[in-house]
Amino acid sequence: MKIKNICCIGAGYVGGPTMSIIAQKNPKIKVHVVDMNTNKIAAWNSENLENLPVYEPGLSKVVKEARGRNLFFSTDVNKHIDEADMIFISVNTPTKTTGEGKGYAADLKYVEACAKQIAKVSKSNKIIVEKSTVPVRTSEKIKQILRLNNTDVDFQILSNPEFLAEGTAMRDLEIPDRVLIGGDDTIKGQKAVNSLVKIYSSWVPKENILTTNLWSSELSKLTANAFLAQRISSINSLSELCEKTGADIEEVSKAIGMDLRIGSSFLKTSVGFGGSCFQKDILNLVYIARSEGLEKVANYWEQVLIINEHQRDRISKKIIDLIRKEKLEPKILLLGWAFKKNTNDTRESAAIYVTNNLLNKNIGIDVYDPKVKQSQVDFDLSNINADYDKSLVNFIEEPFLNVSEYNIIAIMTEWDEFKDYNWEKIYKKINNPSYIFDGRNILEIEKIKKIGFNYIGLGRN
Ligand code: NAD
Ligand code: UGA
Repeated sequence: MKIKNICCIGAGYVGGPTMSIIAQKNPKIKVHVVDMNTNKIAAWNSENLENLPVYEPGLSKVVKEARGRNLFFSTDVNKHIDEADMIFISVNTPTKTTGEGKGYAADLKYVEACAKQIAKVSKSNKIIVEKSTVPVRTSEKIKQILRLNNTDVDFQILSNPEFLAEGTAMRDLEIPDRVLIGGDDTIKGQKAVNSLVKIYSSWVPKENILTTNLWSSELSKLTANAFLAQRISSINSLSELCEKTGADIEEVSKAIGMDLRIGSSFLKTSVGFGGSCFQKDILNLVYIARSEGLEKVANYWEQVLIINEHQRDRISKKIIDLIRKEKLEPKILLLGWAFKKNTNDTRESAAIYVTNNLLNKNIGIDVYDPKVKQSQVDFDLSNINADYDKSLVNFIEEPFLNVSEYNIIAIMTEWDEFKDYNWEKIYKKINNPSYIFDGRNILEIEKIKKIGFNYIGLGRN
């Protein structure tokens, strides 16, 4: 099938950037990104490109080039489903909060709602592409919903998981390590696969486009995230051992990363991984394994999450203990709220959990983040504790506004600007004794210590 019209349901962190690149690279294909959230669509359409709902380096340039030409953002979901030859489902798949699998399984209600809507509206044959991260065999469920609700048209289902990371999404989309496409091993299924391969081939070398069966594609996505998160928990667990033994985690990380079989990526110790996906995807993997009776496999992967929580908690405890022991001001400056640098996304950010731990001990927090808004900080804290003490949290737009009020600065996100601050100047204003908790090991220890700060990093003394 020659694809002329694409509809993507879900204008979030994946749908927006992914479709922008597809539209940029395929100017002859019309791409409509639809969402039921009117504010989000208005933001995607805003004249001022600084107001796009997703902050991603390089995104606004691509949107500027393609928007209005062959890239459109709309709330008219039905119209664009109807007109499309190919529909991407790129909606959220959070962890279930109620019912069977609560706390572990992926909640597929948004994916299922899309399938129902597609079935209801479609009058012509369509290729449905599962872009959301889903449990293995979800495409079977989508197929059933479509066929049960519409027997007049042919639907081919593909799995095309997304591997972009936030903050580097545009680069990841432009030069992906691989594009994965799973489809049915039937003539129609393979034709559908080829239609999607053709779209990606406009800019991705053929050898980087991998085609598999549907189930392998679905499971590979969960597996990739589990492996990445596992590496972070491995290095984080060793950061604690380094603190006990006098080894330096940065040196250990470098030493093992130079072994080509291990590789150096994802070995940066941190206050804990965040983001919308690692936790939910591992919980989902654990649920699937447990549902299949594979208790030991489930426990193995669950340990990745247990270590992550432990890392956040042990760092919180260090701050709490220090304040008590040294009888310091029960108020600190927290630098960074986003779950990593170069994004405004705060979902599952370690900063939320550390703050919650400190608030539970009545420690006040001034929060500064270059890209996150005050309303988001309030939203995140309310989510974790609806009754959190708002009087203890102060969002500041200028990082060192109240620096004379605390002894402790804690870095939660690895924003580059934190490295470049004039720490000498800050030292002159901060209370003494002064401490920097470097939850990302981004500062130069010797320089910071020489200025006069007490430096507390991860896995190094
Ligand atoms: P998101 O929450 O940013 O966006 C999802 C959007 O879907 C929301 O704007 C929501 O309003 C919309 N939506 C939900 N149901 C809808 C419906 N029935 N009709 C119209 N719109 C609807 O989520 P995201 O971060 O873009 O993630 C989407 C999927 O991609 C998830 O499964 C996630 O696991 C996966 N993923 C995310 C990333 C990432 O970096 N964020 C990377 C790879 C994969
Ligand atoms: C991750 C994966 O990297 C993507 O391939 C995947 O598509 C995506 O999840 C998804 O499915 O949502 P993302 O969460 O955007 O991408 O960002 P990462 O760069 O993976 O970082 C995740 C978290 O791990 C961040 O909090 C980051 O600071 C932390 N991290 C990362 C470390 O603590 N150490 C590292 O060495 C690397």
